[in-house]
Amino acid sequence: MSYDKFDAVITRKLSGSTKWDDADTLFGAEDVLPLWVADMDFSSPPAVNEALAERVRHGVFGYPSPRAYAWYAVSDWLQSRHNWQTKPEWMVSTPGVVAAITLAVQTFSEPNDKIIIQPPVYPPFFSSVANSNRIVLENPLLYEDGEYRMDFTDLAAKAAEAKLLILCNPHNPVGRVWTRAELAKLAEICRENNVLILSDEIHGDLVYAGHKYIPLGSLDSGIADRIITLTAPSKTFNTAGLYTSIAIIPDKKLRSQFAKTVQQLSINKCNVFGITALEAAYRHGGPWLDELLTYLKGNAEYLTEYITANIPAIKVAKPQGTYLAWLDCRALNLSQPELVKFFGQKARVGLNDGATFGKQGIGFMRLNFGCPRSILAEALERISQAVKQLGQA
Ligand SMILES: Cc1ncc(COP(=O)(O)O)c(C=O)c1O
Repeated sequence: MSYDKFDAVITRKLSGSTKWDDADTLFGAEDVLPLWVADMDFSSPPAVNEALAERVRHGVFGYPSPRAYAWYAVSDWLQSRHNWQTKPEWMVSTPGVVAAITLAVQTFSEPNDKIIIQPPVYPPFFSSVANSNRIVLENPLLYEDGEYRMDFTDLAAKAAEAKLLILCNPHNPVGRVWTRAELAKLAEICRENNVLILSDEIHGDLVYAGHKYIPLGSLDSGIADRIITLTAPSKTFNTAGLYTSIAIIPDKKLRSQFAKTVQQLSINKCNVFGITALEAAYRHGGPWLDELLTYLKGNAEYLTEYITANIPAIKVAKPQGTYLAWLDCRALNLSQPELVKFFGQKARVGLNDGATFGKQGIGFMRLNFGCPRSILAEALERISQAVKQLGQA
């Protein structure tokens, strides 16, 4: 098997990429290596690129029909890859998962309702709740011996006063792939307290050997009709710029409520290219994804081994899923602003500030290893050198 395609360094500078083109400004230094926002530096699968090229060659880009048959590609993928039986009619098109979270929050709760999230967690979970004038109820993950797990005792207490819970499965940034037992327990607590679940499963395909992504909606939980699953091919196949995602809502009443919100905002349309890529990815992207996962697992191992051997002041657990690593930098003894400045301006590596994932992320940084190994190696070398200089200062 050849991994040349993942080792190839594709120049993204001046391609209109936020990850690369905004990095120097954002991090305040020149020639910053960007390992922050969650897209990868790899080309999408050839089948996706070819489907897009063919659509371009057609040359006519008028309004698309909703193309409900694309949803068959989604449901076939979920069935064959993740053993989840869904129906195309459960699916509603959305222009991105973050947009879908906000739409769901506004559809299924009222101002001042309480919504549970599990920090440290993807920053838009906070903002979609707060910007909608709802109240964030934190059920922080427990962090013990370098491992994260859910705090079910706290969850049961908070669920009694909450309307919704936003789950991240697998979890960004800590890289946990929730087990069947963990998901069943969470579902049970939500059922007992009549809490509706928004399950963000955008990282579901990106899970490493030894772990298994279980769609929450596939569990025999008794609350399948109380789950709104939000997903997309965009992390898996690196098509985030196409802004095409899906809400999967088995319950007819909830689905029509959600579809009404989408319609009222006049965003109930698909993008021609987004839907073309989605269909090609889910129909033909499986073998490419298998190779990608092998490559990313190699990156995860390289990263954890390098850090353990060369930068003992930073602790990192090997992620079970996602291409994100959560670096525990507390032993560097820097304040959060100093830590952010240290990585951006001393190491010249652009990482996400851990504090944006909640106060539980203070002392942490998030690193995106969805890049050729040579870029990852240079970033780690830069970090290692900067940490050494810090020790000498
Ligand atoms: C958990 C999670 N949800 C949603 C998104 C973004 O989704 P979209 O680009 O479809 O809005 C990301 C991107 O990093 C993510 O990590």
